[in-house]
Amino acid sequence: MLFLPDPGSFFVDCTSPIMASTLPPLNPANVQGDILVGLPKKVQHYLFFQIDDDVTAFRKRLRLLIPLITTTVQVQDDRAKIVANKKKAAELGKAPELLRLSGVNIAFSQFGLNKLGIKDNLGDTAFATGQQKDSQGLGDAGAPDANNNFVPNWINAFKNQIHGVVIISGDCDLTVTATQAAVLAIFNIGAHITLHEVITVKGVVRPGAEKGHEHFGFLDGISQPAVKDFDTKPNPGQETVSQGVILCGREGDVVAGTTTPFTRPAWALDGSFLALRYLFQLVPEFDNFLKASADPTKGFTSDLLGARLVGRWKSGAPVDVFPLADNPAAGKDPLQNNNFRYDFPNDFDTQDRCPFAGHTRKTNPRNDLEQLGFSTENRRIIRRGVQFGPELTPEEVSSGKTHHGRGLIFAAYCGSITNSFQFIQQSWANNQGFPIQKPVSPGFDAIIGQNNQGPDDNGPRSMSGANPNNQTATLSLPIEWVVPKGGEYFFSPSIPALRDTFSLV
Ligand code: HEM
Repeated sequence: MLFLPDPGSFFVDCTSPIMASTLPPLNPANVQGDILVGLPKKVQHYLFFQIDDDVTAFRKRLRLLIPLITTTVQVQDDRAKIVANKKKAAELGKAPELLRLSGVNIAFSQFGLNKLGIKDNLGDTAFATGQQKDSQGLGDAGAPDANNNFVPNWINAFKNQIHGVVIISGDCDLTVTATQAAVLAIFNIGAHITLHEVITVKGVVRPGAEKGHEHFGFLDGISQPAVKDFDTKPNPGQETVSQGVILCGREGDVVAGTTTPFTRPAWALDGSFLALRYLFQLVPEFDNFLKASADPTKGFTSDLLGARLVGRWKSGAPVDVFPLADNPAAGKDPLQNNNFRYDFPNDFDTQDRCPFAGHTRKTNPRNDLEQLGFSTENRRIIRRGVQFGPELTPEEVSSGKTHHGRGLIFAAYCGSITNSFQFIQQSWANNQGFPIQKPVSPGFDAIIGQNNQGPDDNGPRSMSGANPNNQTATLSLPIEWVVPKGGEYFFSPSIPALRDTFSLV
């Protein structure tokens, strides 16, 4: 694996901090396309890279990449084309053919900023620390090395210093592979290599009816915050957040729970932090656990148990609205599938509808905090990412054991990793006492809560309220079915920042 020392000998001249009061309105053409809208994808590659020691050459090549970077306006355009294409096919009574589309975005870690000589402090502690150092706090399994530094049980590639990631998306493997080759051709001409590939993680949307569903089988990507003055037609139940919750330097880019703005350098405006996690999922093991723990003779089916662990049925229908039976039509209907707040009578104190530790309730507790006078606005994230790995094989189903790596490349954009992604994982999902002020201890988020205390050590995990017939009973969660194997924190700069601060003519 590559390991390039960080010379830190370059200095990029940066202008003064952002003055929120003098900002022009948001221009979507300045914002990379994955953040506010999401690059359309069937296939998506995450090319993690290191910058060569010839930093000047890298920065010059980066300038040549900028025309290839897909902006928010271009993504809006691409999505409009997809809608029109589907409509046309429906009118002709045909299945739509996939349009040949691809998208490219780029983001840099703190190591990357150091390497580029950008010395301004972006003002986010988790980002500056880097995810590997943060991994123990996130609950990842690992062990101290000879110098007593915690080393997570990640794959080796992610134990390198990752300087950046290029996100490449498209309609099929061929398109994405060709676009990736075009990106690499910009940076690496002949023998002159300015970008070293550390690893490319390849994601693929699941096939057929599983499209949009993560590998445990649940429809994902439903609940996203709407961004003020950008997403102007939120769906019922979809909360609108200030632009600064997602974009640095904009109104609401504040330390959570305060009105204190973060101090950002001017070039950070309209950039967004990106928390990337390479999460493996033990699907047959999870399915077997659901079967073994259910009690169908009393109406407590494995589907109901799964729905209560997630907070939604596989169709996407929220258990807070449909507590006893799935409603597939509502699950896929944006007018219905996000319209709940855990505020039905008795919701605050009981787990009749959704366990306190249900994944969606842990990660966006809605009324559980608002009723206590706390805002959740600055904890919100926009989730992108994609599944990776093959479908289950018959052998895996019959043996109940994972033989092939699969899971989720989790990608969350936010105005502050410390405010939101890190806080959600550490202080909510991993915190048995959250949501607070409940009559019983909620326990761990069964999907992502972590209690690792050492090498390969799954510390004990449990949750309450999984069984609607016996809500005070504690369900023991014998293993962690989501296993982190890598990741990093990045910053996705605006197009002007890429042009004026990151690249060179
Ligand atoms: C393999 C790991 C994961 C799986 C299988 C998973 C699955 C899901 C599913 C099925 C939903 C419901 C669909 C939706 O509301 O969009 C969801 C929602 C959500 N997840 Fe995850 N997730 C994973 C990791 C994470 C992580 C690491 C975080 C953050 C630390 C997270 C935060 C959220 C949030 C904020 C929501 C929306 C909750 C709401 O607004 O109601 N997830 N996830």
